Amino acid sequence: MEKKQDNKIIAKPFVKWAGGKGSLIKQLIAYLPSNFNEQEDITYIEPFVGGGAMLFYMLTHYPNIKHAIINDVNQDLINCYLLIKKDPAKLITLLMRMKDEFYQLPSIEDRGRYYYQMREKYNEGGFSIKERAACFIFLNKTCFNGLYRVNTSGKFNVPFGRHKTPKICDEAVIMADHKILQRVDVFAGDYNRITKHLGKKYNFIYIDPPYRPLSGSACFIEYTRNVFDDAEQMRLKAYCDMLTQKNCMIMQSNSNSVDSDGKSYFAKLYDTYYINQIKAHRFINAYAGKREKETELLIMNYVNHQ
Ligand SMILES: C[S@@+](CC[C@H](N)C(=O)[O-])C[C@H]1O[C@@H](n2cnc3c(N)ncnc32)[C@H](O)[C@@H]1O
Repeated sequence: MEKKQDNKIIAKPFVKWAGGKGSLIKQLIAYLPSNFNEQEDITYIEPFVGGGAMLFYMLTHYPNIKHAIINDVNQDLINCYLLIKKDPAKLITLLMRMKDEFYQLPSIEDRGRYYYQMREKYNEGGFSIKERAACFIFLNKTCFNGLYRVNTSGKFNVPFGRHKTPKICDEAVIMADHKILQRVDVFAGDYNRITKHLGKKYNFIYIDPPYRPLSGSACFIEYTRNVFDDAEQMRLKAYCDMLTQKNCMIMQSNSNSVDSDGKSYFAKLYDTYYINQIKAHRFINAYAGKREKETELLIMNYVNHQ
């Protein structure tokens, strides 16, 4: 069933996102349920969608996915998905204006000042909702490393990235994403709100929460003001059990976190699930000669008979 559309602009993430799955997709799809291609009416669900690398891949390659549901707790990120779905032309106009203003400035210092003015206005809530979506993308493209990080008061605090030629407005990608998003219902909030939107037939749910650190217990990637600690990992496990009761197919990514007793945290927590290790794109050791890749986990409530 997998179909590649070689000559077309393929829909893909419109922002860079911490924990983005772009480089792991081939490994992830190898663990889809073995009967996935035979299903005719799949609802694809991503409750922690972030940049949506897996979402855009799945929707461009599996025509048997008739409908999708996405959600993220980051309201501003979801605001961008909604604008791309409903009014991409407006987003492109706003982004083009920001791009022109940015590139007209002769020096990197002037561009840095422009970035900090935009960041301040964004943090003060000085934009209309559509301008706020454009500013979110502008900041993502021009900030340091495409990070999204907020301080304890919820203010975006990533510094200017000093990139020479950031692609502030990728019109082709926005239009390709617009087309794909017509099949997608988009929600903002805690992941548990997607339950009432499950499809009637075959639900496949890809769960990509903030990872548990390799050792320790709280996630320090500050996607939001709320910390994703062990209590959150346990709440998510209970949620997966509830979805399993509803016959949903679940695939979850998480870290290969080990406790002080040397045992795998997730092997204990998900003791009735199937767990496989895949190679992450991060290296354990930065020194030449020891560049062994870190592993991470795929936790599933089905066997895929690989
Ligand atoms: C690892 S990232 C997902 C990355 C995504 N798969 C990609 O390719 O870009 C985790 C996401 O979970 C979101 N998040 C954190 N807590 C959440 C919650 N309680 N409910 C829904 N989303 C949450 C964060 O805003 C972040 O976008």
